[in-house]
Amino acid sequence: MHMQDVEISDLRRLTKVILDEYDYDFTNYAMSSFRRRIQRILELYKFGNVNMLIKRLKEDREFFDEFISEVTVNVTEMFRDPSFWRELRDHIIPNILLNHNTISIWHAGCSSGEEVFSMAILLREMKMLDKAKIIATDIDTSILDRARRGAYPIKNMDLNEKNYIRFQGSGKLSDYYKEENGKAMLDPSLVENVSWRQHDLVKGIVFNKFDLILCRNVMIYFNQNLQNEVLKKLHESLFKYGYLVIGSKESLIWCEIANKFIVVNNEEKIYKKIKD
Ligand SMILES: C[S@@+](CC[C@H](N)C(=O)[O-])C[C@H]1O[C@@H](n2cnc3c(N)ncnc32)[C@H](O)[C@@H]1O
Repeated sequence: MHMQDVEISDLRRLTKVILDEYDYDFTNYAMSSFRRRIQRILELYKFGNVNMLIKRLKEDREFFDEFISEVTVNVTEMFRDPSFWRELRDHIIPNILLNHNTISIWHAGCSSGEEVFSMAILLREMKMLDKAKIIATDIDTSILDRARRGAYPIKNMDLNEKNYIRFQGSGKLSDYYKEENGKAMLDPSLVENVSWRQHDLVKGIVFNKFDLILCRNVMIYFNQNLQNEVLKKLHESLFKYGYLVIGSKESLIWCEIANKFIVVNNEEKIYKKIKD
């Protein structure tokens, strides 16, 4: 059977139900990718149409967690964009440490945690891990459970290792994990001071101030309005002269609060808050 296309009106009904029943607001997710994800969920669970998905969401609250995992894109890597991580180690973190002896970091949209483990390895190599306070958040509770476990399929480690080599780390990536049952078990001491929390950027609750926020490849799934709203909250969550990093295909240039940041590195998408 050929799956019927998901219409905008279907998506409107769906997002309304999710908002009413679960208080998550997907209204301002970028339409085309959201629609593709919904289409994928219909195929995966063999729902003939969006109404069947809506019915299941209304009846089965446990299914909602699965839905969140499927509707969000969790693709990530360790040391993704290695030149960014070099820049962070060689310039940004030393710069932050000119003025303080501790560093507070927020990974917003941390997915399965590869970005957080990369940060911890970088900081350990800089002998700064003990001085860092790291908070890692995501909307998706099951991906956070995976992040907490720090066990990644061994087949992913080839790419991660390649990135680490390009990052020019001081050892080998395999120094930081042991292999067990086809999994790379990352050294748990790397993340003993990491606080993993569920947090929805759309709800926009500001819970702390940070020297450095990484929100990479998350807002790419939001429409322009929502990007503006989320950026305001990220701005509010930074200390003055703190740094914000976004994904390599994203930009701050056109957003409403662009004038409150300066571009520190355009290639690596690193911005510095200069105005409250
Ligand atoms: C593609 S991953 C990015 C992971 C990592 N930052 C990176 O760049 O490799 C996007 C993550 O954003 C999360 N996400 C999507 N909507 C979110 C929201 N409203 N609040 C918090 N996280 C969200 C998804 O669950 C997913 O884990």
